[in-house]
Amino acid sequence: MSQPTIIQDADYLQNNQYKSSANLDARAALHRRFRTAVTPWPVWVFDQLGLQEGTAVLECGCGPGWLWRENVARIPVNCAITLTDLSPGMVAEAETALSHAGHDFRFQTANIQELPFPDERFDVVIANHMLYHVPDLAAALGEVRRVLKGDGRFFAATNGQNHLRELWRIGRELWPAEDSPPHRLVTAEWTLSFRLENGAEQLTAVFLQISLLRYDDHLAVTEVEPILDYLFSSSFTGDETRPAPETIARVRQKLAQQIARDGAIHITKDTGLFNCFGS
Ligand SMILES: C[S@@+](CC[C@H](N)C(=O)[O-])C[C@H]1O[C@@H](n2cnc3c(N)ncnc32)[C@H](O)[C@@H]1O
Repeated sequence: MSQPTIIQDADYLQNNQYKSSANLDARAALHRRFRTAVTPWPVWVFDQLGLQEGTAVLECGCGPGWLWRENVARIPVNCAITLTDLSPGMVAEAETALSHAGHDFRFQTANIQELPFPDERFDVVIANHMLYHVPDLAAALGEVRRVLKGDGRFFAATNGQNHLRELWRIGRELWPAEDSPPHRLVTAEWTLSFRLENGAEQLTAVFLQISLLRYDDHLAVTEVEPILDYLFSSSFTGDETRPAPETIARVRQKLAQQIARDGAIHITKDTGLFNCFGS
């Protein structure tokens, strides 16, 4: 196991980055507002799960429960859905939003590396954009396999190397100093430990059959502030790393000119979902 990065530091994740959904929401807003795909991501993911009446589901790293909030009217009857996250703040938000939604939802703070559930409890386990936060991926996948029934399915969403590449280029203009932590995060260190390019290789340690479903989308962004909000919400180390006001003003002006000239700033997305079963 290599040295955990800041985006794998449990204390930072629980008490800072994901203490509440505020940072995640700034990023989700860019996708929600400027996607070109017809189907929103949470609806597309739900469509892949193939839930049926009575399916027992576990979501690890559920955040504020958006997957279920967006699809609540489409959940089959008698499904038992357990939502877990490392961050108690996220679990509380999911619980507030869903506990009266009319389905059998359960909520628990839990680390995917040590799941507090018996063997072979679930038909479906979901890890949506969270495995790259896990320092010991082998332990996490072992736990997922243990709590899944023999014929159960695991769905793991992540991004590829090209995801949001134009956005990170803007990040490098905001933090040009090569030795600054944000600059390192928006360049080499940003390579995710679990990504579309290496996910299947890691999943084959535990699952027999793996297929990758890709979500076809790109962003056409027509406002500057949501781009800056996205970058400032990311895993940087707080106000002391905020660029100088004149740097922000220069980047803001450049982006506004680009939108005025081209109509939008186009941002590549590279996102998908591994569908895994068998052992
Ligand atoms: C990028 S967010 C995704 C949230 C949600 N799945 C979604 O797509 O909206 C990652 C989530 O994983 C959680 N997380 C990070 N490490 C975790 C771990 N080891 N076990 C469980 N959850 C974890 C974070 O607290 C955060 O809520």
